[in-house]
Order: sequence, then C-alpha cells, then structure tokens
Amino acid sequence: MMEKDILVLGIESSCDETAASVVKNGRVVLSNTIYSQIDLHTLYGGVVPEIASRKHIEKINRVIKKSLEEAGVSLNDIDAIAVTYGPGLVGALLVGVSAAKAVSFASGIPLVGVHHIEGHISANYIENPDLKPPFMCLVASGGHSHLVLVKDYGEYEIIARTRDDAAGEAFDKVARAIGLGYPGGPKIDKISREGNPDAIAFPRGKVEGSEYDFSFSGLKSAVLNYLNGCRMKGEEFSQADVAASFQKAVVEVLVEHSLKAAKDYGVKTFAIAGGVASNSHLREAFEAECAKRGFNFVHPSPIFCTDNAAMIGAAGYYEFIKGYRSTLDLNAVPNLQIGEKVGVFKENDGQFK
Ligand code: KG4
Ligand code: ZN
Repeated sequence: MMEKDILVLGIESSCDETAASVVKNGRVVLSNTIYSQIDLHTLYGGVVPEIASRKHIEKINRVIKKSLEEAGVSLNDIDAIAVTYGPGLVGALLVGVSAAKAVSFASGIPLVGVHHIEGHISANYIENPDLKPPFMCLVASGGHSHLVLVKDYGEYEIIARTRDDAAGEAFDKVARAIGLGYPGGPKIDKISREGNPDAIAFPRGKVEGSEYDFSFSGLKSAVLNYLNGCRMKGEEFSQADVAASFQKAVVEVLVEHSLKAAKDYGVKTFAIAGGVASNSHLREAFEAECAKRGFNFVHPSPIFCTDNAAMIGAAGYYEFIKGYRSTLDLNAVPNLQIGEKVGVFKENDGQFK
C-alpha cells in the first residue's frame, strides 16, 4: 500500500523575505512564494529591522494564501505548519511565528518550529532526491558561516564557525566600500567576471588554534586598506579587479577548510547552503575540487540558497515525522543555536494533551 503523502506549509520571515511554501514529503516543492523587501532596504544600504517587521505584517497573509493557491491545495490538505522561529531579527521572526500560530489554532493543524540554518541545510534535500545523511554542509549566509556535520535527519554537529564576520557580511561590506551598493553578494559575483582574480594578493584568513574555523575581518580590512592606499596616491582602482581578488580569497578559504573537514570526518558527500552558496564562482570551485578529491557534491538551486520557505518546509517535514511539535507558546528566539530546541517538543513528552 502507498503511504499517505505528507504536505507541510512552510513559513519564513526571519530577515527581509516574507515567504511561504507547500512541500510534499520533505522533497517536492508544490509552491515557493517569496516576497522580497530588498528594493526597500537598498535605499538604506542594509536591512532596517523595524521596516522589515512592518512589511512582513503587510505581506504575510497574502503570501501564505498565494502559496496554497499555487500548490493547488487548501488548508484541509496540509498536515503540518513549519515556521522559522530563530535565529533572526526578533520583530521579523515574530510576524511569521504569530501567523503560523494563528493558522494552526484556527485550523487545528499541528505546528512545528524550525531553525533557520537547519532550513538552509535542508534545502539540499529538495533537488537531490538521493541525498541522505551523513554529509558535511557549508552554510554561508549574511549572518552565518558554519561547517555542519549532518549526522542524521535533524541531527547536527558544528565543526567550524566564523570568529568574526560571516562570509555574506564580508561580501556586503566590501561591495559597499567599492561602491557597488547593497546587496553586495550578487553584485560582486557579477562584476568579478570582468575582473582579474589575481590582480591583488589579499590575505587568506587563518585562525589560531583551529584548522577549520573561518575569519573574514582581516580580509575586509585588507580591502579597505588597499582602497585607502589608492585614494591617498590619487590612483583609480578597478572595481572588477578588487571584487574578483576579494572573492577569490573568500572562495579559496571556504573550499579549503570545508574539504579538509570533509576528509578528516570521513564523509563522502559535501553540500553547500545559504545565500553565499548561490555565488557562481564558489559553486564552480566546489564542483571542481570535489570532483578532484572524490567527494559527491550537491547544492540547491540559487532560489533555494537565499531565504525561502521551501527549505523550512523540508526541514519541518523531518522534524514532524520524528514527532516534534510546538504549542501556541512557541516564541521567536533571535539567537537560537543549531541543534537547540526551545518550545519544540516530542509529542509524547507531556507537553501535549
Ligand atoms: O541566506 P540569506 O539569503 O540570508 C541570511 O540568512 O543571511 O543570505 C544573504 C547573504 C547576503 O549577505 C548576500 O550578499 C549573500 O547572501 N549573497 C551572495 C550571493 N547572493 C547572495 N554572496 C555571494 N554571491 C552571491 N551570488
Ligand atoms: Zn538565511
């Protein structure tokens, strides 16, 4: 007998994307609705938390409705509601969490809180139907740079983290410094195609006492110093050369640390996730190095790398089938750690009647 399909409604509002998605069995995306506020925040050169929260409130109901319509389903077909409850901006998170609780309360559909980064990692399940843990995943986004060993579905061990800036943060700051504007990642990615990645020898960040941890603040300072030097000498600098040289330094460090950890921990498959994982140079570098070193390389499409709710639906599915549930007490947890659960319980541990 065929097992019944499980449909999860995912909801995401941790930063500047209001998103909802319907995902079947943790792998098949029936809809992926994203309202991006990026144009609004571009005016200010970065995400303004108060504006983000207000926009989420305006959009969330319509985004949820549209995701159900596009999937061709109604709430009656949904088995669980998965919502990002951390980490992220507290006011932004609260909008998604409140909407998810309201829908759950009104419909009686079970609720489960999902960790944003665990969502990013789970984006890899969507287009790689054969992907199963264990695997190693590099998560590089605007707020996080982690190497995570995925031991099993929903079981994570952090192998490395950044000691200072996240990779995406470095992209955004350098882009601003060379006059490309916000958001920096995609702009550096594009303009680098016209630049020489060996034009300027920027440092590769090393961290004392750890061979896997990342550090990007030294690289960022080196770029700022280079720009200052040019200004003082009255010389023009090439945006494309600075972008390409900076990007090469970031990509090299991410690839080297990641694949060293993958080898040392004995995994066969390597995955990437988060906004920076949509960087075309990073993807090419991992593709080439994984092939050379004998790792199976998987990655989400760019649309599932940057913030979306399909990844929350995918992660939520595996939490749901393990029996994890949240009550209406679920709250936003802005600094939630990977693997930590706050207000997410097993169904039979006494929290549910
Ligand atoms: O995962 P994400 O959408 O949001 C967070 O959870 O932070 O990541 C956003 C970050 C930003 O810093 C953005 O500049 C970076 O991802 N990013 C990129 C690219 N696209 C987005 N960085 C490098 N290359 C890209 N193509
Ligand atoms: Zn994210």
